[in-house]
Amino acid sequence: MTRNLLLVSDLAPGEITNVLDLAERAALPRCLEGRGAALVFEFPSARTRNAAEMAVVDLGGHPVTIRGEEIGFDVRESVEDVARTLGGYHALIAARVADHQTLTQLVAALGAAGMPVPVVNLLSNVEHPTQALGDLLTIRQCLGSLEGKKVVFIGDANNVCRSLVAACAAVGAAITVASPQGWGLDAESVSAARAAGGTVEATDDPGEAVGGADVVYTDVWVSMADKDEAAAKRAAFAGFTVDAALVARASPGAIVLHCLPAHRGEEITAEVLEGPQSRVWVQAANRRHSKRGLFSFLLSAGGDAS
Ligand code: CP
Ligand code: NVA
Repeated sequence: MTRNLLLVSDLAPGEITNVLDLAERAALPRCLEGRGAALVFEFPSARTRNAAEMAVVDLGGHPVTIRGEEIGFDVRESVEDVARTLGGYHALIAARVADHQTLTQLVAALGAAGMPVPVVNLLSNVEHPTQALGDLLTIRQCLGSLEGKKVVFIGDANNVCRSLVAACAAVGAAITVASPQGWGLDAESVSAARAAGGTVEATDDPGEAVGGADVVYTDVWVSMADKDEAAAKRAAFAGFTVDAALVARASPGAIVLHCLPAHRGEEITAEVLEGPQSRVWVQAANRRHSKRGLFSFLLSAGGDAS
C-alpha cells in the first residue's frame, strides 16, 4: 500500500520512532537512485525546500523543485492531471500548498491511476508534519528522550502547532498550547490528540503554561497565508512574545525551539533566539535528516525501496 504523509497521524507512533531512528543513521540505502522527486512550492521556503532537496540527494535521487505558478494547480490544469503527469516521472511528490485539499486530491488521483507514488505535505493550511518530525528529532537529541517531556507552544495554534500537538501525543510528550483567545488550538486537534493518549492543555496564559516546560516553542504570528490579517494578528498576540522573563519560568534545562523564519521582537526576542537555551539551528539542520528518514520510510513501507 502506498504510504503518504499529509498529517502526523498518517504515521503510527512506532512508525514515527522508526523515522527518527532512520534519520539518525549515518547512511541509508539509496532508495531513490536514478529516480526523481517532485517538490512543489506554492509559498516560499528556505528550510523545507533545501532540506527536501538534500534528503533526496542523500538517497541517490534527483529533486525537481517547481514553483506553484509553474504548474498552477486547478489554474493551468487540474490537480488530477498534474498528479498523473508528475507520477509518470517521479518516485515521490511533495508539496507546500495553500489549500490542504490539493494534497488529498493528489493522493486520490495517483491512487486512481494506479501510481504508487507517496505524497508528502511540505506545509498546508492544516499541518506541517515534516516540521514536527524534525522537532521530535531535535528534542530527542537535545533532551535524551521524548516520553514524559513537557513541551509548551506559545503563539498561533496554526499548522506548525497542530502537527506538534499530534506528534507529542504520539510519542508520550505532554503539550500545553498558550494562545490569545480566537487563535487557540481547535477542539478537533485537542480531542484527536487526547484520543491518541496524549496529554494536551490549552490556555491563554503563557506565564502559567511555561511552568515546568522542557521545551518552549514558538512560530510566527503572521503566517504566509495570513498577510491580509497582519495588523490584527500583531495586535492580538501582544503579550505572547517568548522573552527571557518567560523562558526563566521554564525548567532550568529547557530548550527553546522555533520552526523559523523568526521575527525578532515579535514572537521571540533576539536575546532568546540567540541565547544559550536556543537550539533553532540544530532544529533547522534536522529538517534534512528527518526528511531523509521519512522518505526512506515511505518508499520502503510502500514495498518500493528499490
Ligand atoms: N520551518 C520552515 O518550514 O521553514 P521554511 O518556510 O523556510 O521552509
Ligand atoms: N505558520 C507558518 C510556518 C512557517 C514555516 C506559516 O504557515 O507561514
